[in-house]
Amino acid sequence: MYQTLLTSLENGVYIITINRPDKLNALNKDVFTDLNNAVTEIESNAAIKSAIITGAGPKAFVAGADISEFGSLDKNAAMALAKRGQDIFARIENCTKPIVAAVNGFALGGGCELAMACHFRVASENAKFGQPEVNLGLIPGYGGTQRLVQLIGKGKAMELLMSAHLIDANEAKQLGLINYVTTAETLLDHTKKILDIINSKAPLAIAGCIKAANAVHDESKDGYALEIEEFGNAFATEDMKEGTTAFLEKRKAIFKGK
Ligand code: COA
Repeated sequence: MYQTLLTSLENGVYIITINRPDKLNALNKDVFTDLNNAVTEIESNAAIKSAIITGAGPKAFVAGADISEFGSLDKNAAMALAKRGQDIFARIENCTKPIVAAVNGFALGGGCELAMACHFRVASENAKFGQPEVNLGLIPGYGGTQRLVQLIGKGKAMELLMSAHLIDANEAKQLGLINYVTTAETLLDHTKKILDIINSKAPLAIAGCIKAANAVHDESKDGYALEIEEFGNAFATEDMKEGTTAFLEKRKAIFKGK
């Protein structure tokens, strides 16, 4: 079904592995098409409760946009490419089901941007993050200038954007770019365990959290007003009745996503 992705569904967690290890999983046109289709699948397949994006091989999550596709681009084509990347990454960010990056090596350029578009990030100790586009006479095009500032603050983001300096997993954790550092061997299990917990909660409430939290950085939206609306929407769900009743009856809630 996918040319550049390996996928598997384990206990409601859809694991998407970008599979171009000989090119350090660089994002070419085919990866973009496949990622876009994968988000559609996550949204539409009821058996998928959440997803993990990771990279094939021991070296890289994603080492950036595929630089070999840049040679033929003029200004308009480059702008169209950036728009396509931004649109797909926005679909990941706004997906109603959690999508987590399990960063298993280099997350550079578009790879760092992809990880930042996910709802949060877990990384193995060999991970390296950075936006090295200025080395190529470029700037990030898939939302990196915006999300890096959002996640680690303007001062440090400016330094990383302008210096092309790479940071390791421990520094990324200190800066708040990632939530946990694991060994390479435990990365996927650790990430799955977090998602097993999230998957046991009410899915519509999870979707409401994503929508409201994303509104913080969306100037077209009033996040507080959206929170009121989502809070109200939650009261109209069967799962809210089940959750509150189960609490009062001192039993575990069984959520249905309704
Ligand atoms: N686009 C296209 N191909 C890439 C790539 C990218 N972003 N990143 C790595 N590759 C390819 C290399 O060209 C090489 O292919 P080859 O074997 O056919 O020559 C292969 O992946 C392995 O990479 P290599 O550079 O040999 O590995 P390394 O361990 O010496 O270095 C990096 C690893 C990540 C430091 C280095 O590959 C790199 O700097 N990549 C580009 C990072 C970047 O600038 N990303 C932002 C793009 S906008």
